[in-house]
Amino acid sequence: MAASHPCRHVRAQHLGFAPQSLSHIAASELLVLLRCLGSLVDLIAERGSDLLDLACGHGRIAKRLAARGVRVTGLDATALFLDRARAQAAAAGLEVEYVQGDMRSLPWPERSFDRVISWFTSFGYFADDENRRVLREACRVLRPGGTLLIETNNLAELLPRWLLDAGFATVDFHDREGEPLTALSGRMIAIARR
Ligand SMILES: C[S@@+](CC[C@H](N)C(=O)[O-])C[C@H]1O[C@@H](n2cnc3c(N)ncnc32)[C@H](O)[C@@H]1O
Repeated sequence: MAASHPCRHVRAQHLGFAPQSLSHIAASELLVLLRCLGSLVDLIAERGSDLLDLACGHGRIAKRLAARGVRVTGLDATALFLDRARAQAAAAGLEVEYVQGDMRSLPWPERSFDRVISWFTSFGYFADDENRRVLREACRVLRPGGTLLIETNNLAELLPRWLLDAGFATVDFHDREGEPLTALSGRMIAIARR
């Protein structure tokens, strides 16, 4: 795995914690996700409709979609998570294809999927050019008219608008060294002038 892999310290004990702590919210998240994707009826009824769960983890969302009849492929970099995902799918009698890989270089030809989802802040782990590569890859594997859904943090989107609405004339953002922001900057400094 590349040095930038954020989960390189994943150990078996983490698997025991994460799925349980998240399972209670997965059902409600699923309803939101389905609303954003279009109705489940449409999703299932579309002949040959394929959904890619990008960075699917242990299949928390993928298995729930599959249980509702959606044809799902899950890609994740972490073998341990995929082992868990496959075991759970098998135990539940669900068909989900789980593939180990890197979201920066997807192992499918172009126009392979109708929907791509990136859920639970699974986007933005890399330097800017690599994050943009993830988006290009998602676009490449989507069929024309397909949809990409990214669930992520929202404050960076809201703050510029809120500051301008509050009466400031200009808003700039820098990292904590005063340098231009990158996706890896993490925290940022907003400079608003009236
Ligand atoms: C926060 S978890 C989200 C899992 C899942 N989307 C969910 O909602 O439960 C982020 C996932 O990204 C995966 N990941 C990290 N780097 C990756 C990469 N380069 N390519 C594919 N998956 C990656 C991790 O293994 C982890 O499962």
